[in-house]
Amino acid sequence: MVTPQRLENQLTDKGYVPVYTTAVVEQPWDSYTATDHEVWATLFKRQRELLAGRACDEFIQSQEAMGMGAGAIPKFAELNRLLRDSTGWELIGVQGLLPELTFFEHLANRRFPVTWWIRKPEQLDYLAEPDLFHDLFGHVPLLMNPVFADYMQAYGCGGVKAHGIGPEALAQLTRLYWYTVEFGLIKTDAGLRIYGSGIVSSKGESLHCLDSAAPNRIGFDLLRVMRTRYRIDTYQKTYFVIDSFEQLFDATRPDFTPYYDQLAKQETIPAGEVLASDAMFNRGTGEGWLTDGDV
Ligand SMILES: [Fe+2]
Repeated sequence: MVTPQRLENQLTDKGYVPVYTTAVVEQPWDSYTATDHEVWATLFKRQRELLAGRACDEFIQSQEAMGMGAGAIPKFAELNRLLRDSTGWELIGVQGLLPELTFFEHLANRRFPVTWWIRKPEQLDYLAEPDLFHDLFGHVPLLMNPVFADYMQAYGCGGVKAHGIGPEALAQLTRLYWYTVEFGLIKTDAGLRIYGSGIVSSKGESLHCLDSAAPNRIGFDLLRVMRTRYRIDTYQKTYFVIDSFEQLFDATRPDFTPYYDQLAKQETIPAGEVLASDAMFNRGTGEGWLTDGDV
């Protein structure tokens, strides 16, 4: 086994440059400091308080079923016992960002990579890359949900395929991940709720995505989502709303190859644009939007 290192994006005069790693490491649980556990506790308590009535029930219930609490950073080995029994998923420790194909191959085999290290106290509100809090608090709970668990695996299989097709297909598939797994909203009888990991692990975006008048909230449509560019440096201009996790899984059931052919003939859509064909929940006011910077 490799000795775990903390591999972070490098800050240069051109912004953050990602650092990729492929090593799978044992979670060095005994090496977490009191400060690391405190960062976990602070973020855990803050987000759970904020997410009451905001995150979907499946997220909160799964997190509770896993026994995640503020007390200490959870042990991957303990979570794995529960996960394997419920949906057959397994967490693996990683040092930072994985190359795309490696990431997809793990998902396709029901392995979810979790960054072993946690942010520093001065990074509570923003970090340029995923850390343990984002991955574990944000992504892992829904792997307990059988339908979402299957969706994640289907996404991984689709990713391996898209990687073989080419960069355009990969970009289109990445948009799907971004607008669902990372920044998805779900419609419930009680109103819109959050299920995206990028939202539940961020204080600012947990508030913004539901309370702000600025963003669009649009009904999920697979091909529409796969054409829509997104923001990595600011809150999203548009959130897509699913009806259920079944809807999401069903959308990824077919082979995407014909979709890629179809999408190749169409323009991408700017992050904040609304189309006449969109099923609107709210049209955003666009307040505070930057005019450039969509990726
Ligand atoms: Fe993420």
